[in-house]
Amino acid sequence: MMAKTARRIALLGSTGSIGTSTLEVVAAHPEQLSIVALAAGRNRELALRQCERFRPACVSMSGPEDAAWLRSALSFSPEIHFGPDGLLACALHPDGNTVVAALVGAAGLQSTEAALRAGRRVCVANKESLVVGGALMRAAMKAGGGELLPVDSEHAALHQLLQARNPKNIREVRITASGGPFREWPMARIRAATREEALNHPTWKMGPKITIDSATLMNKGLEVIEASVLFDLSVDQIAVTVHPQSQVHAMVGFLDGSYQLQVSANDMKLPIQYALLYPDNVPGPVPPYDWTETRAWTFEAPDLERFPCLGLAYAALRAGGTAPALLNAANEVAVAAFLEGRIGFWDIQACNSEVLARIPPESADSLEAVLAADRNARDNARSWIALK
Ligand SMILES: NC(=O)c1ccc[n+]([C@@H]2O[C@H](COP(=O)([O-])OP(=O)(O)OC[C@H]3O[C@@H](n4cnc5c(N)ncnc54)[C@H](OP(=O)(O)O)[C@@H]3O)[C@@H](O)[C@H]2O)c1
Repeated sequence: MMAKTARRIALLGSTGSIGTSTLEVVAAHPEQLSIVALAAGRNRELALRQCERFRPACVSMSGPEDAAWLRSALSFSPEIHFGPDGLLACALHPDGNTVVAALVGAAGLQSTEAALRAGRRVCVANKESLVVGGALMRAAMKAGGGELLPVDSEHAALHQLLQARNPKNIREVRITASGGPFREWPMARIRAATREEALNHPTWKMGPKITIDSATLMNKGLEVIEASVLFDLSVDQIAVTVHPQSQVHAMVGFLDGSYQLQVSANDMKLPIQYALLYPDNVPGPVPPYDWTETRAWTFEAPDLERFPCLGLAYAALRAGGTAPALLNAANEVAVAAFLEGRIGFWDIQACNSEVLARIPPESADSLEAVLAADRNARDNARSWIALK
């Protein structure tokens, strides 16, 4: 029987870092939130436990073997799918009205787009889908009446700060970056950084891809592009400030030179709850911010020489069209190769830069164009890596 809660959720990427945090938020608000569909990749044991706990009507795994295993292991009989069609079946399940996009990488593109076209609220953590298909997402929202609510903490902060603001009064927005594990490292040491060093993030516990992106500052670059899509801002209106304590998540700067800041604990359950329950604001999954504690906050400018990926993201946003999709695809291939020990840390930025230089951007106004750019950049990145 269909649940009567306000938000009936298809959670794509349920077994990941954002996925498991989302299920904690759902469990804390049974009157307002329920699970209609769960989609995972390869982690069948965790998917099984999640299904037994939340009893979705629809489930998907990335491959047929995992889907078959789940079918035989479950104590009840939901619809079970696999692969990209399975993601769509979950995202568009007729009992749902909300999608949490928590997949990693461009694999989330079609399901996010389809959900917006179907008029769903999409709470989007999967920034890559916005980076790759920003124009498509805006068109899908317009055509289908869907709604995008950011889950990335910086963008959730901007969403709060920009409520009921006249865009004419806004000079710029600033998103903060922790600076990652290599913030204070000299260039020579960064160039030789190991996988373990890069995975050792100082403030956030996240999946491996975004953790490496945080070490290169590519994550912040992807977030700059994400902000341009979500809030319709020009590249010159989006700035980055390094703030190692990760307590201020974003700032809005007004024409008169003043700023407003958003502050909260660095726990992803806060922006997840915000996106799911918006416009309601209810007691949080963590205690209110403690202002009796003595704290020191610091702010500094990012160093584009030691962290060139951030500059590449600005260049791709300026170039427009498929350039962000090209950069994202090269980066996904390079990060996977680094995690597998096939290239060094500094090679990630070299691969990204090479692919951007090799392939001229084209118009990004169709799914086919964006997917073709994604494939082309992946092929180029793989051949660059093969020659290393
Ligand atoms: N983690 C954070 O704190 C954080 C903060 C802000 C934004 N984000 C963004 O949120 C997204 C998710 O990040 P994460 O850290 O949660 O990643 P993660 O821990 O690696 O989780 C990724 C999830 O996607 C699933 N998945 C991957 N490829 C799939 C495919 N082809 N088909 C179906 N499922 C697939 C994985 O399944 P299996 O594990 O079962 O294989 C897993 O459930 C990323 O875009 C990231 O940039 C994350």
